[in-house]
Amino acid sequence: MNKTVLVTGGAGFIGSNFVYLLLDERPDWKVVCVDALTYAANIHTLNDAMKNPNFVFYKEDIRNREGIFDIFEKEHPDIVVNFAAESHVDRSIENPGIFLETNILGTQVMMDACRKYGVERFHQVGTDEVYGDLPLDRPDLFFHEDTPIHTSSPYSTSKASADLLTMAYHRTYGLPVTISRCSNNYGPYQFPEKLIPLMINNASQDKALPVYGEGLNVRDWLYVKDHCYGILAVLEKGKVGEVYNLGGHNEKANIEIVKIILKELDKPESLITYVTDRKGHDKRYAIDPSKANAELGWGPTTMFADGIKLTVQWYKDHMDWMRECSSGDYMKYYEEMY
Ligand code: NAD
Ligand code: DAU
Repeated sequence: MNKTVLVTGGAGFIGSNFVYLLLDERPDWKVVCVDALTYAANIHTLNDAMKNPNFVFYKEDIRNREGIFDIFEKEHPDIVVNFAAESHVDRSIENPGIFLETNILGTQVMMDACRKYGVERFHQVGTDEVYGDLPLDRPDLFFHEDTPIHTSSPYSTSKASADLLTMAYHRTYGLPVTISRCSNNYGPYQFPEKLIPLMINNASQDKALPVYGEGLNVRDWLYVKDHCYGILAVLEKGKVGEVYNLGGHNEKANIEIVKIILKELDKPESLITYVTDRKGHDKRYAIDPSKANAELGWGPTTMFADGIKLTVQWYKDHMDWMRECSSGDYMKYYEEMY
C-alpha cells in the first residue's frame, strides 16, 4: 500500500541510511526528506536517492514552523520519522543552546504539524543516553524501557526532553506516537567527529588517535542498517504510545574499538594518544532489546566482526566523501578540540 513518509535529518548518518532502506524495501512508498543541511549533513550522501522518482528533498529547518507547515500542506505525509537533531555530545558540552532549540523545540514544531494535518504515526528517534550510564563493574545491569530517565549531558537532556514532550503529545492530544531508543550506531555516512569514523580518518592519514581518559568507557555498538530495520519494524508492528529499546548486545570498551580499527588498517598502536577525558563522561551503555525482540520480531543481524570490516572498507572507498565532511567548519572545530 502506498504511503508518504517524511524523514527529517535524512542527509545525516542514520537518516540517510533509513532513506535508502525505505527506497529499497518499500518501493511503492514516497520518501520526503527534510534537512537543514547543518555541518553534520553531506548532500552528496543523497546523490543516488535524488535519482529515484519516489524521493523528494526539502532544505528546511525543523525549527521553522511556517516552512515545515508548508511542506505538510504540499506532501500530506502519512508517517513522520524525526531523526533531525544536534547529535554530538562534545559539541553539546561546548554549546548547549542549539541542542535545546533543535532537539526540543524542533520536535515540538514537527508534532504540531502532525496534529494540524493528521498523521497515522509520529516516530521519535531516541537514544539510550536518556537512561544515563551504568557502572563498569555491574555487567548484569541493562537499560530497560522503564529504566528511569537520568541524563548526563546537555545532548542527552535535550533528547530526554523531546521524548517526554512526545509522550505528552500522545496523552494530551492523542497524537499517535512511538519512540525508539537506540545504542551507538556505526556504518557508512557517519560524520567523522564520532569515534569510529574519526579514528578511521585519522589512522588513514597516520594522525594521532585521541582516546578520552583511559579508553575504558563502554558502548553497545549496532550496525546502522540493523537500527533502520528496527525503526521500520516499530512503524509497522509497534504499538502507539510505546517505547522500544534497540541495541546489539555488543559491548566494547573504546580502546578495543580503536585497536580493532588499527588492525583493519594495518596501522601501529603507537598512533593512540590518551587525551583529557570528556566532562561528565558516561561509563557504560547497555541496552536490553528483549521487548523489541518479543513484540516486533526484531534483532540485529550484522555481527560486529563483519560490520566493522564493511565500515572500514566503506570509508577507505569513500575518502572523497570524508574529505568533503572534514573541510570548513568541521576543521575549525577539530583544531579547537584537539
Ligand atoms: P547526524 O548528526 O549525523 O545527522 C543529523 C541530521 O539532522 C543532519 O543531516 C543535520 O543537517 C540535520 N539537522 C540538524 N539540525 C536540524 C534542523 N534544525 N532542522 C533540520 N535538520 C537538522 O545524526 P545521527 O547520528 O544520524 O542521529 C540521528 C538521530 O538518531 C538523532 O536524533 C540522534 O539523537 C539519534 N541517535 C543517534 C545514535 C548514533 O549512534 N548516532 C544513536 C541513537 C540515537
Ligand atoms: O548511545 C547513543 C549515542 O551514541 C547517540 O545518541 C549520539 O548521538 C552518538 O553521538 C553516540 O554518543 P557517544 O558520545 O557515545 O559517541 P561518540 O562517538 O562521540 O563517542 C563514543 C565513545 O568514544 C565515548 O565514550 C567517547 C569516546 N571518544 C569519542 C571521540 C569522538 C574518544 O575516546 N575519543 C574521541 O575522539
